[in-house]
Amino acid sequence: MIGCKYSLLLLLLIQSTHLCTADEVSYDYIVLALTWPPGFCTSIGNECDSSKVRNIWTIHGLWPTLKQQTSNPAFCDGEPFNSNYLSAKLLNQLTASWPNYKQSSTDELFWNYEWSKHGTCAVQGDYDTFPSQSAYFSRTLELYNTYNFSSILTNNDIYPGSTTFLSELKSTFSRFFGLSNTVTFQCSTHNNRHYVTSCHFCLSSNFSVISCPSGKTDSCQYSYPIVYSSRADMVDCYLFLFMFLLLFVIEML
Ligand SMILES: *[C@@H]1O[C@H](CO)[C@@H](O)[C@H](O)[C@H]1NC(C)=O
Ligand SMILES: *[C@@H]1O[C@H](CO)[C@@H](O)[C@H](O)[C@H]1NC(C)=O
Repeated sequence: MIGCKYSLLLLLLIQSTHLCTADEVSYDYIVLALTWPPGFCTSIGNECDSSKVRNIWTIHGLWPTLKQQTSNPAFCDGEPFNSNYLSAKLLNQLTASWPNYKQSSTDELFWNYEWSKHGTCAVQGDYDTFPSQSAYFSRTLELYNTYNFSSILTNNDIYPGSTTFLSELKSTFSRFFGLSNTVTFQCSTHNNRHYVTSCHFCLSSNFSVISCPSGKTDSCQYSYPIVYSSRADMVDCYLFLFMFLLLFVIEML
């Protein structure tokens, strides 16, 4: 009888230490990070596979985030990425909506990285919401498909290929959600122009839209014009480069 009690106690002890390690990962809110492909590609230059670029916001990742930005959970313990866990349908959707624009890499390597860095922590932080690798990716797609950022902006007359201001971008989403600062914007400077490259959309752990906590700031500045570039701008640029090189070669002949 005593032996039984002790083994029960031991079992409980093992159980509780197990729970402890599983509970170590926590997060305050979730960021859905989106890429603006024409701007992002301008920022990475030659590294960009421009054939994949369209005027549509695409997914960068879904990130469990802490109000104390510096200590966000990352690379938590978890199973390695394995595309065999993802259905063919899911993989097709990922290819369309979560592409890797880097020529030297692949879509799968991008998903692998996002899973290892953020997905493993999402699963450990909230197993009910993210019970599996497949759930992590499909919930991200669901969220992405719920809010069409491309059309929210065009509906407010902010079209690809135009120049705007951070205040315009922010107020578009404030009006849409009836809540301020739900999205922060990131910019990259190229030839003295400021291109929007990505945005971070703040959600509570139950996926309701929230105002981003104060630690989450825009990298774009309010004081200068921001280029919401279009694929056509990039093509023009390449065409220009091509013509320039062609003229150069003709000169040399
Ligand atoms: C969003 O809307 C645009 C048109 O504004 C459309 O082309 C696109 O397929 C829609 N969906 C996504 C996920 O961007
Ligand atoms: C979701 O989270 C928000 C913010 O934490 C909270 O206000 C809201 O009540 C929650 N909604 C549900 C359905 O639990």
